[in-house]
Amino acid sequence: MRVPFFDYAAHFKEHEGEYVRIFREVMGRGAFILQREVEEFEQALAEFVGVKHAIAVADGTNAMLLGFRALDLPAGGEVIMCSHTYVATAAAAHYAGLRPVPVEVSADRTIDCDSVEEHISSRTCAIMPTQLNGRVADMDRLEHLCHRYDLVLVEDAAQALGARYKGKAAGTFGAFGTYSFYPAKALGCFGDGGALVTDDDVVAVKVRRMRDHGRDDEGRFVMWGTNCRLDNLQAAILTFKLSRYPEIINRRRMLARRYCDNLTDVNEIQLPPGPDEPNRFDIYQNFEIEAERRDQLRRYLATKGIGTLVQWNGQPLHRLSALGLSRDLPRTETFFQKCLMLPLYPGLTDDQVDFVCEAIHEFYRSH
Ligand SMILES: Cc1ncc(COP(=O)(O)O)c(C=O)c1O
Repeated sequence: MRVPFFDYAAHFKEHEGEYVRIFREVMGRGAFILQREVEEFEQALAEFVGVKHAIAVADGTNAMLLGFRALDLPAGGEVIMCSHTYVATAAAAHYAGLRPVPVEVSADRTIDCDSVEEHISSRTCAIMPTQLNGRVADMDRLEHLCHRYDLVLVEDAAQALGARYKGKAAGTFGAFGTYSFYPAKALGCFGDGGALVTDDDVVAVKVRRMRDHGRDDEGRFVMWGTNCRLDNLQAAILTFKLSRYPEIINRRRMLARRYCDNLTDVNEIQLPPGPDEPNRFDIYQNFEIEAERRDQLRRYLATKGIGTLVQWNGQPLHRLSALGLSRDLPRTETFFQKCLMLPLYPGLTDDQVDFVCEAIHEFYRSH
């Protein structure tokens, strides 16, 4: 048996007939840019997460960048974010003229709120949690901090479409939230894609214009913008996938349950929170464990045909000295010596999960 970390081709083959039909239908009408399908997807997405506005854009990174630009935050203002996030979160702040400030990760792999509070300064203008691995951070605490220190709350929910905290959807807590539809994402398209959601009418109008060269509905150039549109074809594919997304999430949660049940007795491993926690509905974009002798375990699993990944290729933000982000974050440092993602995607079978778990048991029995 082989267990690849992710199977990109299977992603297409699972509903190949439907995708070919969508391709013919959309292409046959010559509908390529900003047509009906984009609007339909935006409506479906807004309804799914429960917000007023969803704006489809080229990718998750640019969704954050346009969101920051729309907020007109003070130049050089600091944005507090977790060091355990993709470089894209920091890059979006940087290109919007802001300064990313990485802070510690907590035990559940989301931003550590004590560390957030320690890093608030007179220059801080925003807090941006990354809703990592399909899990929402402690939003009560973050909302409280934003209120207390008069800061803007925004969310990088690239990995968390459909995740909930006390019933409220990831991406809907602050001034804006963003998602990525990169192919490996729980809702992935066949190229790049992203979206921004907001209840703020002003932010929505600005982002809608900025993604299309600063044009208003009459085609007048009313502000600086850029080309940051989601293709019509990707939008049509995403609408189809969103219609069966609850099933996809359900399967991801079942797989996470199986990993948790099978690995609970391995002392050398720290599991992520399981799917039965009250107040949280995690979608398991990733199943990220902490493992003793991580690199040895990885090599052992590779000999068994099991693919694993260390998130961000092992580079949390605070280690990116070339980008001027270096700082001392000992807890995140320790976490990055141990973190490892196991395969988790809807096409994975129960037998494959059992095979991975058995291989992990074998490794710790014999090493
Ligand atoms: C946490 C996080 N933020 C931002 C992004 C960037 O999204 P995109 O690749 O669509 O630009 C990603 C994608 O990998 C991500 O995982």
